[in-house]
Amino acid sequence: MVQIKKEAVKDVATLTKAAPIALAETKAVLNQAVADLYVAHVAFHQVHWYMRGRGFLVWHPKMDEYKDALDAHLDEISERLITLGGNPYSTLTEFLEHSEIEEEAGEYRNVEESLERVLAIFRYLSELFQKGLDVTDEEGDDVTNGIFADAKTETDKTIWMIAAELGQAPGL
Ligand SMILES: [Fe+2]
Repeated sequence: MVQIKKEAVKDVATLTKAAPIALAETKAVLNQAVADLYVAHVAFHQVHWYMRGRGFLVWHPKMDEYKDALDAHLDEISERLITLGGNPYSTLTEFLEHSEIEEEAGEYRNVEESLERVLAIFRYLSELFQKGLDVTDEEGDDVTNGIFADAKTETDKTIWMIAAELGQAPGL
């Protein structure tokens, strides 16, 4: 068993910027991300199904990749929230009630219109992850900060690529 001198434990405790039981804003932004990532997943599945026209063969499977990426962030973020003593939303009702992403009726759209919708959702998520970075920086939770940094890095790169496909600048 590893022995640690009491003084050393006290020193580490002093270095911690925030008490682990606090982090109220961090938990709130984590749960916001849980709701939004779930609703984004459903929206991307809709795009996957309701896309028609030139480019379908490329972008239809690409939506599966995007869903997998969202799911990975969702699980990471939910489990970080649990680790901090929080309670992630876990029902469809809760996801819909708390998400800022508006659902749309399923209508067949061309690839460009479909990608505009996907891009708008990714832009929202990028802003949310930035909020996560700001809040965790303020509350001193470096671990959650790292999770949001990874999520934002990937999301911003995807924004660049979809925007490029649409002939737009990334605009980040
Ligand atoms: Fe499919």
